[in-house]
Amino acid sequence: MKKHVVLYKKLSAPLMARLHEAATVTLIESLDATGLAQLREALPTAHGLLGASLRLDAQLLDLAPRLEAVASVSVGVDNYDIDYLTQRGILLSNTPDVLTETTADTGFALILATARRVVELANMVRAGNWNQNIGPLHFGSDVHGKTLGIIGMGRIGEALAQRGHFGFGMPVIYHSHSPKPAVEQRFGAQYRSLPDLLQQADFVCLTLPLTAETQGLIGAREFALMGPETIFINISRGKVVDEAALVEALQQRTIRAAGLDVFEREPLNHDSPLLRLNNVVATPHIGSATHETREAMARCAVDNLLAALAGERPKNLVNPSVWKA
Ligand code: DGY
Repeated sequence: MKKHVVLYKKLSAPLMARLHEAATVTLIESLDATGLAQLREALPTAHGLLGASLRLDAQLLDLAPRLEAVASVSVGVDNYDIDYLTQRGILLSNTPDVLTETTADTGFALILATARRVVELANMVRAGNWNQNIGPLHFGSDVHGKTLGIIGMGRIGEALAQRGHFGFGMPVIYHSHSPKPAVEQRFGAQYRSLPDLLQQADFVCLTLPLTAETQGLIGAREFALMGPETIFINISRGKVVDEAALVEALQQRTIRAAGLDVFEREPLNHDSPLLRLNNVVATPHIGSATHETREAMARCAVDNLLAALAGERPKNLVNPSVWKA
C-alpha cells in the first residue's frame, strides 16, 4: 500500500506528479486556521510531511503516530523540535547547498541597498521629491574596499565572503565556532573574536543558524561595540538579535543602518518601529526566494522524503543518530 504524504507547501506540477506516483498525497493549501485544521485531520495517517514555515512541535507531532520522515523545504531547522523527532525515530531532512548562492545574493543586495540608500532615495524619486541635484544630505557610503564582517562562516557566510573579496575588494573578517583555514586561504579572511569583529567591521553580517546558543546573540552590549558608521545586515534569523536593542541603536544613530531580511516575528508587524526608520531596508524573508532556487529546494525536499519513505538514507539528514543502516 502507498504511504501517505502530507504537504503543507504547494509544489510545481512535475514534483507533484513524482509524489503522486510514489504516495497518497494530501495538500494543505495554506497555513491559515482552516489549513491548520485540515493538517490536524491528516496527521493521524501521515507517514511523511513536507513543507516549511510551520513550527512542528511535540504537540503537533503527537497527532502523527505513524510519521517516519519530515522533509523541510529550508536549510534552517529552527522550526522543528529535533530532540523530539529524534526520540521518536523520525528522520528530519533539510535543503542546504541549493540556496547558498541565492541567499548570499540577498545579503549583498542588502549591503548595497543600505550603504547606497537605494530604497530611501528611490522612494524619494517616486514621491516626486527629486527637485534638484542631490547633495551630501543624500550621499551614501562606499561598499568596495570596506571591511566585511561575517558572523557564522558556514556555506552562506563563505559565499558572502567570496562576493566581498573577489567582487568588491573588501577585507573579510569573520567569527565562527572555530577558525576556518580554507576560508582564510581562499578569501584572505581573518578570524576575530566577536567583540573585535563588531568593533572593526564596516558591515556586520549575520549568517548563522538560530539555536539555543545563538538566540539573542546580538543585543544592546553588542550594538554598543559597533561604530556610528557600521551597517548591520541580518539574513539568518530574527531571533538571533534583540530587536528592541536594534531599534534603539538605529533610532539613536549609534549605528548607521540596517538591512534586514528576517525578524523576531514574521510577517513583521505593520506598526514595527523598524518601518518608521529611513535607515532600515526591510525585506520579507526573501533569502532564497527566486523561482529557480525555490524549485531546487522543493526538488531536494522531495528527493529526501521519497528516499526516507523508501527506507533509504536521505541525502540531507539533520538527525543522523536516527539512521540505523
Ligand atoms: C531557509 O531555508 O532556512 C530560509 O531562511 C528560508 O526559510
